[in-house]
Amino acid sequence: ELSPIDKAKYACAVKSVDFVKDGMRVGLGTGSTAAWMVKRLGERVRDEGLNIVAVATSTRTAQLAEEVGIKVSTLNEVEWLDLTIDGADEFDPDLNLIKGGGGAHLQEKVVATASERMIVIADAAKDVPQLGAFPLPVEVLNFGWKTTRGLIEEALEDLDVDGREITLRMSGDEPFITDEGNLVLDLHLKRIGDPRRMALILNQIPGVVENGLFIDICDVVVIGHEDGKVEVRG
Ligand code: A5P
Repeated sequence: ELSPIDKAKYACAVKSVDFVKDGMRVGLGTGSTAAWMVKRLGERVRDEGLNIVAVATSTRTAQLAEEVGIKVSTLNEVEWLDLTIDGADEFDPDLNLIKGGGGAHLQEKVVATASERMIVIADAAKDVPQLGAFPLPVEVLNFGWKTTRGLIEEALEDLDVDGREITLRMSGDEPFITDEGNLVLDLHLKRIGDPRRMALILNQIPGVVENGLFIDICDVVVIGHEDGKVEVRG
């Protein structure tokens, strides 16, 4: 028996797999919602003989995909994709997103941008009028990360936000390390007044590899509710 939140995640994940057609090149997202999607896609590959080329957005997802019988290719082998299905931490009325709660937003953004369409799967709690309550993940080089943090602090002075605290993402007692070998800084902004400007300014700072704002990348959000109902927006 699934908890209400898992019921919501499961419902939108299963629905999103209807968008996958035979012969498609598909990007597979990362996180607990995306994991349900990968499992459902594995069922379709097995039961219907669905033929797809899949590219994963993390080592975690690649491993799960292989486990459920989906053959995983690399982005360099495929270059362009038809569709990416991924989770998100927040989405706003313009379908702009915060991602990276799982620390995979760098590969996720590369894969989503390589895709003709990006479908986000999310429970209704992630539907927000304005982004920023969820801390914004920023992947940074380990080299000089404290300097990079200082430069981000300076940049935040001129940006329309309600909080400016920055924390280094940890994994137990050690810094969290991404699939690309970098660190993650979480920006506790509370409210992001201008997400587009924020994304541009952050990515101009030396040492910043990629921020977790997805602007004009997502095309459709499949929203899952705790009663198992789904809603498609976009
Ligand atoms: C991974 O880096 C994130 O972008 C995830 O997509 C996000 O954290 C959503 O995860 P859940 O589906 O587990 O909430």
